[in-house]
Amino acid sequence: RGCKLVGCGSAVPGLQISNDDLSKIVDTNDEWISVRTGIRNRRVLSGKDSLTALATEAAKKALEMAEVDPDDVDLILMCTSTPEDLFGSAPQIQKALGCKNNPLAYDITAACSGFVLGLVSAACYIRGGGFKNVLVIGADALSRYVDWTDRGSCILFGDAAGAVLVQACDSEDDGLFSFDLHSDGEGQRHLRATIKENEADHVLGTNGSAVGFPPKNSSYSCIQMNGKEVFRFAVRVVPQSIEYALEKAGLTGSNIDWLLLHQANQRIIDAVSTRLEVPSERVLSNLANYGNTSAASIPLALDEAVRSGKVQAGHTIAAAGFGAGLTWGSAIVRW
Ligand code: ACO
Repeated sequence: RGCKLVGCGSAVPGLQISNDDLSKIVDTNDEWISVRTGIRNRRVLSGKDSLTALATEAAKKALEMAEVDPDDVDLILMCTSTPEDLFGSAPQIQKALGCKNNPLAYDITAACSGFVLGLVSAACYIRGGGFKNVLVIGADALSRYVDWTDRGSCILFGDAAGAVLVQACDSEDDGLFSFDLHSDGEGQRHLRATIKENEADHVLGTNGSAVGFPPKNSSYSCIQMNGKEVFRFAVRVVPQSIEYALEKAGLTGSNIDWLLLHQANQRIIDAVSTRLEVPSERVLSNLANYGNTSAASIPLALDEAVRSGKVQAGHTIAAAGFGAGLTWGSAIVRW
């Protein structure tokens, strides 16, 4: 039993923030941001905009492309680190899609690696668990956790959602050739948004000792990032991971049609493609328009490339996610 990608979709918020707009709130400028990151614009949720609604829109488009009815979906994996419900956003997407047979729906938290992890999880459910149609959604709204006074990080992020439908097929048509997944909690200090350590409320326990309770209304701190370390981490592990996955699939950089990396920084994309000897015309990048959209960046770039006719049926794609955790991973897939 194999699995293949049969549909994709994406959605971005309406509000666009340019580098010039950012230069009005922090000490920065378009030239610095463009040269160091390749980013020119990003989309940001505003007012009552909902990430769950954005994710649902992306999922609907993927189902339409695949010509699959929401009632035939048997698993929804919502890859996000910014859910709108601490207990998970995926069941709300299941509800909004109107899947009547109550398919399992849950969140996967792995920041910018989330989508690749979701894709591999979908394949495992299909290959070993008898599932037929798995929706993998990558959606994040990091704008809600950005420190908008920190010019070193607020310039990077944007909000978006992307989705792919993974479907069961005969093993000879299998579209996931190989994968490679990792984490390193040691590196968490370089990129994190941890729970705020507020002063705990204290009450007396029955034996008279002070018992600390977690603070009411807990919240998370803004994203704290050591950009240089994250940069070094990415350009070290991503090529290794892709090379390993390619080798497992019996391929090399010259056999793939497209390199599709998590869209974090154009300099990271350039460094990795140079190392893998993949020419720039075979590298997908839409970072300039959307910035780093975390778990959404890979399906968003894939959807754009499929709909513009760049990525065509039968093309081989080497995809890699990397980010907070630290986590990273790659998957070699056929579109
Ligand atoms: N505008 C103008 N100047 C700036 C800005 C800015 N927005 N930000 C920093 N600077 C200044 C710094 O203060 C510093 O000035 P100094 O030399 O006087 O001290 C100078 O520019 C250089 O700063 P660096 O931080 O050394 O710049 P660097 O070249 O490392 O670029 C960047 C910073 C763009 C953040 C880079 O390190 C990067 O992209 N790293 C990867 C980050 C990333 O991808 N994070 C997300 C991972 S995915 C996820 O899971 C969320």
